[in-house]
Amino acid sequence: MRMQELLARGEKVMMRNVSRLPAVFTRGEGAYLYDADGKKYLDFLSGIAVLALGHSHPRLVSVMQRQAAKVLHVSNYFFLEEQVELAERLKDLSGLDRVFFCNSGAEANEAAIKLARKYGRKLGGKYEIITAAGSFHGRTMGALAATGQPKYQQAFSPLPEGFRYAPLNDLAAWEAAINDRTCAVLVEPVQGEGGVRPATKEFIQGLAELCRKHRLLLMMDEVQTGLGRTGRFFAWEHAGVKPDVLTLAKALGHGIPFGAVLAREEAAVLEPGDHSTTVGGGGMAFAVALEVLRIIEEEDLTGRAGRLGRELTALFGQWQEKLSVVKGVRGLGLMLALELACPAQPVVETCLERGLLINAVTPTALRLLPPLNISKEDLERGLEILYGVLAERGG
Ligand SMILES: Cc1ncc(COP(=O)(O)O)c(C=O)c1O
Repeated sequence: MRMQELLARGEKVMMRNVSRLPAVFTRGEGAYLYDADGKKYLDFLSGIAVLALGHSHPRLVSVMQRQAAKVLHVSNYFFLEEQVELAERLKDLSGLDRVFFCNSGAEANEAAIKLARKYGRKLGGKYEIITAAGSFHGRTMGALAATGQPKYQQAFSPLPEGFRYAPLNDLAAWEAAINDRTCAVLVEPVQGEGGVRPATKEFIQGLAELCRKHRLLLMMDEVQTGLGRTGRFFAWEHAGVKPDVLTLAKALGHGIPFGAVLAREEAAVLEPGDHSTTVGGGGMAFAVALEVLRIIEEEDLTGRAGRLGRELTALFGQWQEKLSVVKGVRGLGLMLALELACPAQPVVETCLERGLLINAVTPTALRLLPPLNISKEDLERGLEILYGVLAERGG
C-alpha cells in the first residue's frame, strides 16, 4: 500500500519532534481529507484550528491562484496593497490601532514580548511578564519561556528570564505575582494546548482591572481562539475586555504561514530597526486572510460556531449521562474538549481507523475543532463515529 510506504520513508527522514499518527494525506476537500490509499476521513481537527473554512475552499483557491500570478513579496521596505487593506480590516475588527505581520503564532508572541519589554523599559526598566500555568504560546525561546508548562521547557534551559506563572482563573495569585518589575500579562482567553480551559469572565475582567491599577499591558494570545472559533470573533469579547496587545495566527493564514500582532497606539512602541522579519506573511498570506475574513463575515460563521457549540455542549451532556466513559465537556463555540474516564490516545487512534480526525489534548481529554462551516450532516456523521468508539469503551 502506498501509505505504508510513505509512512516508512517519512519516519526515516523526518525528525522525531512530534508523535505522529499513522496517516499520510494527499488531498483535502471541505471537511474531508483523503489518504494516500484513497481512504476518506472527516477532519474534526482542522489542522489544529487553522482551516476554519475547511480544505481547498474554492474562494481561497481562486485568491491564491490570482495572488501567485500578481505579487508575493517586495521586502519590508515597502507596503503591498493587500497588506494595507488587511491591516485596516484588522484594525476595524479589533478596535486596536496598529499591526505587525509575521509568519507564525510563536513569532507573533515573540513580537508581543518585545513590545512589552520596550513598553516596560519606558516605565523605568520593567520587564517581567506574567503568564498562566498550563498556557501555550509557542516553541521559540521567548514564547517557550512564556509557556507555563515545564514539560515543554525542561530540555532547553536556560530560557530567557523575566516570566512568572500563575494559575488560570486565580486572580489573587496573579495579583501576588505582580511586582515593581512587572510590565505585562499574557493570557489565552481559552487555553488551547493546555486542555481547552476557558478563562472565566470574572478573571479576565479582574485581570484588566489589575492591569489598569499597575499600568501593565494586557496581552491576549488569540492564536487558537481568534476569528470566530469560540462563537465571538475575538474570544476577549466574551468578557467584554479589549486587550492592549493581541496575537493572531492559525486561521488568519488558513494554511499559509502567517501571524499578526495588534496593539493599542501606546503599546505599539516599535521604532525603525527594533523588530522585523523578511517575509512576514507576504502577498499570499495577506490576500488569503482578507478573503477568510470576508467569508467568516458574509456567512456569519462566528454566530454559527456559537450556536453549534451550544448544541454540541448539550449533546455531550446527554452522552455524559449515557456513557460512563464521558466525564465532562468544556470549551466555547467549536473549540471543545471531552474529558474521559479512560486514556484519550487509544480513542483517537480508533477514530482515525474509522475515518475521523480528532486529537488527545491531554492524556484524558479529546479535543474537537471542526471547520466553522462544517455541514450539519458531516458534523452528525463524525459524531456518530465518535459516539460508537466511546460507547465501546464504557456504555
Ligand atoms: C494559543 C497559542 N499560541 C501560540 C501558538 C504557537 O503558534 P505556531 O505553532 O503558529 O507557532 C499556538 C499553537 O498551537 C497556540 O495554540
